[in-house]
Amino acid sequence: MPDSQDTTLDPRPVLAGAAGASAAAEANSPAVEFRDIDIAYGKFVAVRDFSLSIAKGSFVTLLGPSGCGKTTILRSIAGLVDISGGQIMIGGRRVDDIPIYKRNIGLVFQSYALFPHKNVFDNVAFGLKYRNVPKPEIARKVGRALEMVRLPGSEKKLPSQLSGGQQQRIALARAIVFEPQVLLLDEPLSALDANMREEMRVEIKKIQKETGITAIFVTHDQEEALSMSDRIVVMNAGAMEQIGTPEEVYETPATAFVADFLGKANMLAGTVHGSDRKTAVVVLASGQTINAACPRPLAGGSKVTVVVRPQKLSVGAAASANRLSGRVVSASYLGGSAIYEIDIGGKANLRANAPIAGRVLREGETVDLGFDPEGCVLLDERGQRIS
Ligand SMILES: Nc1ncnc2c1ncn2[C@@H]1O[C@H](COP(=O)(O)OP(=O)(O)OP(=O)(O)O)[C@@H](O)[C@H]1O
Ligand SMILES: [Mg+2]
Repeated sequence: MPDSQDTTLDPRPVLAGAAGASAAAEANSPAVEFRDIDIAYGKFVAVRDFSLSIAKGSFVTLLGPSGCGKTTILRSIAGLVDISGGQIMIGGRRVDDIPIYKRNIGLVFQSYALFPHKNVFDNVAFGLKYRNVPKPEIARKVGRALEMVRLPGSEKKLPSQLSGGQQQRIALARAIVFEPQVLLLDEPLSALDANMREEMRVEIKKIQKETGITAIFVTHDQEEALSMSDRIVVMNAGAMEQIGTPEEVYETPATAFVADFLGKANMLAGTVHGSDRKTAVVVLASGQTINAACPRPLAGGSKVTVVVRPQKLSVGAAASANRLSGRVVSASYLGGSAIYEIDIGGKANLRANAPIAGRVLREGETVDLGFDPEGCVLLDERGQRIS
C-alpha cells in the first residue's frame, strides 16, 4: 500500500482526469457515491454497509471518535485501501474503472507532508508538473493558488521558514492547484493551535465555496464539523449513525450516541406516565414530571431518555411549560452567559448554558429551570429517537 502522503505526489503522468466519453453521465452524478461498501483489514471489518451520496460542490464531514473508520473511508476514495464489498462511484463512474493515478483527487492531511527541501513554488507545482502542464500555466496556477490561501509571494520560501498554519495553507494550495474533482481533508487542522484552527476553518470553507470544489472533511472535533459542513455524517464503530445538516444532527440526534458525541447533552432517564399524539408525560428519575414533544403515543410505563441541550434550559423564572427545580452545584462565567451544573435530584447533574439575567448565580442557590416540550428529544430504550 503506498504511503498516504504520496497520493497527490504520484509521479506517473496523469491524463485529463475522468473527462471524455462519460462526460455527459458525469454532469448529473453525485461527486462521490458509496454504495453499501465494506472495508476489512484482514479479518477486522473497519467499515460496514456504508452508503452515502455526496453532491457536487458540497462540504461533507465525517465525524466520529477515534477508530470509527473515518480515515479508512477517505482512503478508499483515493484507492489507498481496497473495499471488500459494494461500490464507490466518482463523478458517476465506478472507481474500479479509474486507475488510482487517474483519480483526480486532492489530499490534505494532519501532517503537512510538504517536501522539506523544496521551496513553496515547487511544493505547490508538484501535481501540475506531473500532469505535464506547460510552464507558464504552472506559474500562473501556483500564483493563483497561493493568493487563495493568502500567501502570495511566498514562492521562494522553504517549509521550515513557515509557521504550522502557513505550512498547512501550502498543503491546501498544493491539493487544489490542479482543480481536483474532490478534495479530501483528513483532520487538517488538528496539529494547529486553537486560534489558528479557528482561522483556518473559516479560510478552508471560504476557499471551498469560491472554487466550488466538493470537499470531504474528516474530524473528531464536533465544533469544527458544526461550523464548516453542509452535511455531517456521524460515524460510530464503522457504521453511519446519522446524516444531516449541522442543525439536524445537533437539534434532533437520531440516537443516544449522536446526542452524546455531538456537543453536550443532558440525558434524563424517565418513565412514560401517559401520552397522546403530540406529547408524552414523563416522570424523571428525580421524581419530577415533564412534558416532552413526541410524534406518537407511547405505552404507559415505557422507559425513555429525555435529551435536552444545555442551551434549551432557561435558568430563573422563565415561563416555560416544563419547570424543574434544583440547586446550583457549579457556575462558570463565560462573559455574556454562564454554564451551570444543577442538581435536580437524579443521578447526573443538569448542565445549563444560559445568558446572564442580572447576575451570575452562586453555588448552593436553589433555582428554577424551564424548557419547552419542543426543546427536547425522546429516545427509546435502545437509544433510538422516537419518531
Ligand atoms: N492498516 C490497518 N491494518 C489494520 N487495522 C487498521 C488499519 N488501519 C486502520 N485500522 C483499524 O481500522 C479501524 C478504523 O481506522 P481509521 O484509521 O479509519 O479510524 P479513524 O476514524 O480515522 O480514527 P482516528 O480519529 O483515530 O484517525 C480502527 O480500528 C483501526 O485500528
Ligand atoms: Mg483517522
